[in-house]
Amino acid sequence: MSDNSDCLSVTCQASPNIALIKYWGKRNEELILPDNDSLSITLDLGELHSDTTVSTSSSMTCDTFYFDGIQQTKLSKRMQKVLDEVRRRAKNDQIKFVEIRSHNTFPASSGLASSASAYASLAIALTKLFNLENPQSTAAYLARIGSGSAVRSVYGGFVRWSSEGECLSSCIYPVEHWPELRLIILIFNSSKKPVSSTDAMQRTRETSTLFQARLSTVNDKIEKLIQAIKIKDFNTFAKIVMMDSSQFHAVCMDTYPPVIYLNEQSKHLIDLVHAFNKTDENETMKVAYTFDAGPNPFCFIREEHADEFLSLLKHFYPSNNDNDNVHKQVSNIDGNFSSI
Ligand code: DP6
Repeated sequence: MSDNSDCLSVTCQASPNIALIKYWGKRNEELILPDNDSLSITLDLGELHSDTTVSTSSSMTCDTFYFDGIQQTKLSKRMQKVLDEVRRRAKNDQIKFVEIRSHNTFPASSGLASSASAYASLAIALTKLFNLENPQSTAAYLARIGSGSAVRSVYGGFVRWSSEGECLSSCIYPVEHWPELRLIILIFNSSKKPVSSTDAMQRTRETSTLFQARLSTVNDKIEKLIQAIKIKDFNTFAKIVMMDSSQFHAVCMDTYPPVIYLNEQSKHLIDLVHAFNKTDENETMKVAYTFDAGPNPFCFIREEHADEFLSLLKHFYPSNNDNDNVHKQVSNIDGNFSSI
């Protein structure tokens, strides 16, 4: 924390998370209370993170927000809601306004949702700046009312977001628990999604009959997935992660009008992964895909199979022809990615 005259300032960082069991549906829009529990991996702080600096001083006359150094004309409703909640909780009622300066170290085209890391870093920074009580659960609460999935980026490693009680998140295992795990991200399309997650999940709730069926399966999948992570059972891990991804996209398709996030390349990658998994003589799984609200796959793989799979990806998606727009990045979940 820096203190210049009466200006207080705090900078915090948070990383994106990738949902293994998806959050989809809110039973309370205002507080962002989810319909189902979800489970994710937060990338360890590496080169990919959001940095947020929050400052306050008695001379400020309004809240301001700078993104990448550029002042935004106004704060979003959700950001305003987060600040109002902070003021409500802050003991020092002399503190009226806040300046927010936010920056992502990863490009929008990296396929990673930046809202989760952005709101998590904002929430942690505000909690510190105003010295709020119960800092971890307060930061999780503030992140959640900014963007639901951000609640999981407040913690590192494997994180569960509960849909019950206070609907906060907790770390199940730290990222070091499974050091052989690697993540490969393929960018098939980096343009803005056709329907935002917020709008699409509301539409799903209103129109999809498969949605309730999905909800009844989620807790069982989460318990099995946690057990698989505990004993590093990649076979079970891969099957559950891929099935949940497909079920989520089936529910999107069952929404009216349908929400279609996958594209032809996504479907090709799905077939490729299943074909690749079949090549193992013991039929052990080598790679698992998951897709969020977009066409870009996140592939989890153990280190021992990574080179073989990367060669296959280079063959099918060479970077010097028609597939020039397909970018491939690999990481050991430490947030340090290299393009391949
Ligand atoms: C498909 O957290 O972006 O990525 O709460 O409305 O801000 P809001 O939605 P958001 O939804 C993320 C949906 C998802 C699945 C997940 O991350 O669990």
